[in-house]
Amino acid sequence: MLEAVDISKKYFDRSSGKQRSVLQNCSLQIQAGEAVGLMGTSGCGKSTLARVLLRLQPCDAGQIIFQTQDITLLPQKKLQTFRRNVQFISQRPENFFDPLLKLRQSLLEPLKIFSLSAADAELESILATVKLNPALLDRYPHQVSGGEIQRLSIARALLLKPKLLILDEPTSMLDVSVQAQILQLLQSIRQQEQMAFLFISHDNAIINHMCDRTITMSDGKINH
Ligand SMILES: Nc1ncnc2c1ncn2[C@@H]1O[C@H](COP(=O)(O)OP(=O)(O)OP(=O)(O)O)[C@@H](O)[C@H]1O
Ligand SMILES: [Mg+2]
Repeated sequence: MLEAVDISKKYFDRSSGKQRSVLQNCSLQIQAGEAVGLMGTSGCGKSTLARVLLRLQPCDAGQIIFQTQDITLLPQKKLQTFRRNVQFISQRPENFFDPLLKLRQSLLEPLKIFSLSAADAELESILATVKLNPALLDRYPHQVSGGEIQRLSIARALLLKPKLLILDEPTSMLDVSVQAQILQLLQSIRQQEQMAFLFISHDNAIINHMCDRTITMSDGKINH
C-alpha cells in the first residue's frame, strides 16, 4: 500500500555550513492492514522519514509509491486521495492544529474537506474512548495540555478512518493508565477497520504489543 524506495535526504547544517545526510537509501514497504513498528535511537531520522513519506517534506532522492502510484512529485492538489487515506499523529501534535480555530472546528474540518460526515454519537464515542471531555472542544489549542492535544490528534485521525495511519510516538505525553487505554483503542480500531500502521516508538514493549513486525533505523539508514 505504501512503499519507499531508496529515500535520501540532507539537511543544511548551520554550524558547519555544509549539508548533512539525515536519510540514506531508506526503503520500506507497508502492506494493507499491516502494523509495522519503526524503532531507533533519538535523532536517527524516524520523524524525518515519516514526514517525507507523508509528503510534508521533500526528499532529495528516491520514490514514494502509494497504491501503485508514484506520489513523490505529485502536486498538492493531486494528493487528495493520498491525504484522505493516510493520516498522521505527530510527535508534536500542537503544530497540526490551527491556533485560530476552536478545537471542535479543527476536529471536524478534515471531514468537511473530504465531504465526509461523522455522526455526533461517533464523535462523542471517540472522545470518550480517548478520555476527553467534549467541553474541551470549545477551547483553542493553547488552552489545553500536551496530553489533551495528543488525544485530540488521535481522535481526529481516527474519525477519518484512514487506510494507513502513521503514528510518531503517539502516546509519549500520556500517563501509563491513559496510554494503555489509548493503545487498546488504536489496536481495536485497526482490527475493525483493517487499517495499516507505521508505528514509531522508542518503547520495545509497545511496538511488540502493537505491531506485526519491526524495522530499526540507525544514523539515517534502515537496518537489514
Ligand atoms: N529542519 C531541520 N533542519 C536541520 N536538521 C534537522 C531538522 N529536523 C531534524 N533535523 C536533524 O535531523 C536528525 C533526525 O531528526 P529526526 O527528528 O528525524 O529524529 P528522530 O529519529 O525522530 O528522533 P526522536 O526519536 O528524538 O524523535 C537529527 O539530528 C535532527 O537534529
Ligand atoms: Mg522523532
